[in-house]
Amino acid sequence: PSGARIPVLVIGTGYGGSVAALRMARAGVDVHMVEMGMAWDTPGADGKIFANTTRPDHRSFWLRTRTKQPLSQFLGYPLDKDIPCYTGILDAEEFAGITVYQGRGVGGGSLVNGGMAVTPKRENFPAILPSVNADEMYAVYYPRANAGLGVTAVDPAWWESTACYQYARVGRKHAQRSGFPFVFVPNVYDWEYMKQEAAGAVPRSALEGEVLYGNNHGKKTLQKTYLAQARATGRVTISPLHKVTTVTPAAGGGYTVMIDQLDTGGAVTATKTVTADRVFFAAGSVGTSKLLTRLRATGALPGLNDEIGKGWGDNGNVMCGRANHMWDPTGKLQSSMPTAGIDNWAAGGAFAEVAPLPTGIETYASFYLSITKNPHRAQFAWNAAAGRVELDWQTAWKQPSIDMAKSIFDRINSKEGTIYRTDLFGAYKIWGDHLTYHPLGGAVLNRATDNYGRLHGHPGLYVIDGALIPGNASVNPFVTITALAERNIEHIIAADL
Ligand code: FDA
Repeated sequence: PSGARIPVLVIGTGYGGSVAALRMARAGVDVHMVEMGMAWDTPGADGKIFANTTRPDHRSFWLRTRTKQPLSQFLGYPLDKDIPCYTGILDAEEFAGITVYQGRGVGGGSLVNGGMAVTPKRENFPAILPSVNADEMYAVYYPRANAGLGVTAVDPAWWESTACYQYARVGRKHAQRSGFPFVFVPNVYDWEYMKQEAAGAVPRSALEGEVLYGNNHGKKTLQKTYLAQARATGRVTISPLHKVTTVTPAAGGGYTVMIDQLDTGGAVTATKTVTADRVFFAAGSVGTSKLLTRLRATGALPGLNDEIGKGWGDNGNVMCGRANHMWDPTGKLQSSMPTAGIDNWAAGGAFAEVAPLPTGIETYASFYLSITKNPHRAQFAWNAAAGRVELDWQTAWKQPSIDMAKSIFDRINSKEGTIYRTDLFGAYKIWGDHLTYHPLGGAVLNRATDNYGRLHGHPGLYVIDGALIPGNASVNPFVTITALAERNIEHIIAADL
């Protein structure tokens, strides 16, 4: 309720926010979570909560009148179409040089992501988070995160035989024929459910291609894991369709938080004010960075230091497809949940996810999302005249990522006598270099905050999401975001609460 005083307010319900809420609630603290997106707990007119990947509708995009699909073209035909403006699930947020895809709703990115749950190699960890004790992370917090998220490995015998991973087996064959290490990657999908899907015993979800606009059945999103456990404590409340706009020190201590209530068309229907003793920024790398950059620049939080907004990276994301020969079909049935990658990080700076292309038809295409060691870092800045936060990433900064991805795919193409697909991101365009799925940084650990996420200059304010990680995780990031949140919140509960 407006005007209330509460002990803890958490901004955002993604990985960082969900970990913080569960652990503080279990320690006996009442937590209120504020989420700008919808609850995603009610079926639409078609009986489903989420729209299919191949049939986007109003539920699919955050306040857009036209879809902006990551794969914008197929066989030269543009795929985007008009949709009603709605507080949908996937935000394609456009900055000058990059489109940043993010999940919107209770569960954050867990609603829309591929569920790939990768713990980085131990040897790569010092470069990811240099100030964090790696022994503790690998002994305690990565295992805790993997358990909390419900991460498991696919049954190898089933994987070898099922039609829906034909595309991944082709990916393995081509990786190994060129001498690259092929690695299996765990996932948060319920593999028993997927087996039942393949057997025709239950409604299809991963095998219906559901991923980008939500998953109706088998994926263990945060709604089913951390947030379900947080709610079970009886100490956590969540306000969906509420967006935090301002945080500023309150006269009697604590922080005054201003919140806009939204309708499903995006209009503000009410403005509320609460006072919280502690505020956790868990709005995602972009959401947290935008808030803190504006609040510092406008004087709402004058004590924040000049590291705010710095150290942002795209996790080196770049996409491409390859055109296979007719003897290497990738299958018309493709599970939307990836299970594998090609690891050329040490030699070439690239880790490529063998990704699905679930079109429902045989395409003879292999599709990859590469994570690369891109050295560029961008900065958020407040544009007072325009009244918005801007990001100075440049499209040309993807070139090192393309070069690193080529360290894998040029060799495979040469060995197989194949070529890149040129029809997926435009006409005659090979590289999907216009986007990221993995925004990281902007309020970097041990720079903008102390070594546990306490913001410098304002006691009682914390960052606990992907904004803490300085731009690159060497693999898909949510396990690392979750593990770091587990580490930080344990320390904060013991020392501050
Ligand atoms: P996250 O973005 O999850 O949550 C932030 C929440 O805060 C959102 O719900 C947002 O709506 C809310 N919010 C923002 N501003 C707010 C405000 N002012 N007021 C109130 N609420 C606000 N990773 C991985 O490891 N494996 C994978 O397979 C994939 N695949 C993938 C696919 C796609 C399509 C995407 C878009 C992303 C992935 N990812 C991924 C990335 C992964 O989902 C991402 O790294 C995490 O969700 C980030 O977690 P955070 O806790 O940082 O924020």
